[in-house]
Amino acid sequence: LASTSRREATVPSTCRDTSELVDISWDNLGFGLVPTDYMYITKCSQGGNFSKGELQRFGNIELSPSSGVLNYGQGLFEGLKAYRKQDGSILLFRPEENGLRMRMGAERMCMPSPTVDQFVEAVKMTVLANKRWVPPPGKGSLYIRPLLMGSGSVLGLAPAPEYTFLIYVSPVGNYFKEGLAPINLVVENEFQRATPGGTGAVKAIGNYASVLKAQTAAQAKGYSDVLYLDSVHKRYLEEVSSCNVFVVKDKIISTPAIKGTILPGITRKTIIDVARSQGFQVDECYITVEELLEADEVFCTGTAVVVSPVGSITYLGGDKELQSISVSLTLGTTLELACILSAANLLVCIYKLKDLT
Ligand code: COI
Repeated sequence: LASTSRREATVPSTCRDTSELVDISWDNLGFGLVPTDYMYITKCSQGGNFSKGELQRFGNIELSPSSGVLNYGQGLFEGLKAYRKQDGSILLFRPEENGLRMRMGAERMCMPSPTVDQFVEAVKMTVLANKRWVPPPGKGSLYIRPLLMGSGSVLGLAPAPEYTFLIYVSPVGNYFKEGLAPINLVVENEFQRATPGGTGAVKAIGNYASVLKAQTAAQAKGYSDVLYLDSVHKRYLEEVSSCNVFVVKDKIISTPAIKGTILPGITRKTIIDVARSQGFQVDECYITVEELLEADEVFCTGTAVVVSPVGSITYLGGDKELQSISVSLTLGTTLELACILSAANLLVCIYKLKDLT
């Protein structure tokens, strides 16, 4: 916390003045787009490098009908958040990690990518330009959505000749309609999210389109979201449509190991570090659906969902011995970790968040 105080000394008084905030109902933020003032944009050709981009008024962009992203899904996105502290200063949560992950994804999707420094600078520029949209402390956060896409025209299947890196932001509240209340997950037994050798480990836009069918069907039956099993054995946990998953049994925390089909979540990694630093045993391993159904607690992690406790798991079968089981879960360890994670001051201390001054 000492280092936090040093940084606080450099925060200009204008950042502390929350009267600069836009006049919207901060108490009713959900997870939907609230258009803000500016977006960041830069372009480069295939094989080229991104130059320093510019801020433009937030609005629609022009894309060729034959752009790589529209025709072949050549695109990635990222998600990270900015928070306003009590003193009005604004913090970013581990932006370098997102920059790094975008580079890994770009490599997989045959796209050029901004450097990590460029990425972080661009995020800072965008957040500062929209700082009146960063919610007051405790009311939510500014969700930052970087996009990288093949914007050049292609017809035959090939990497696009031009790429666009764009960042827009939106103030957000809780992701799930349940708010902070525990969510109800159903184990998906028909559709898979990712396959070995596919793009499940990167934030390819297509990964998210392909889960919509299962997610929509589950929501229509009253579940909050879907938990996917691996596509080979249909037995091991992978992740939820929008987040990673953790299981707690006898105070031991486990989460599916990163093995090419699971998104390496930044909140996931943070929770593993936080939990270990608090003395918990955390295993990254294979977790069977049977083990899931015997868990004491289950929780999800992600930028959008932060730490979401799971209140029940439903497994509708697919296995002779396990049919239509619904388990109720407790919350102790989950809440403990969620509290630690949401303590913004502590985050600054542990993770050296970037102070936007
Ligand atoms: C995030 O948590 O930032 C994500 O990318 C998930 C998305 C489906 C909202």
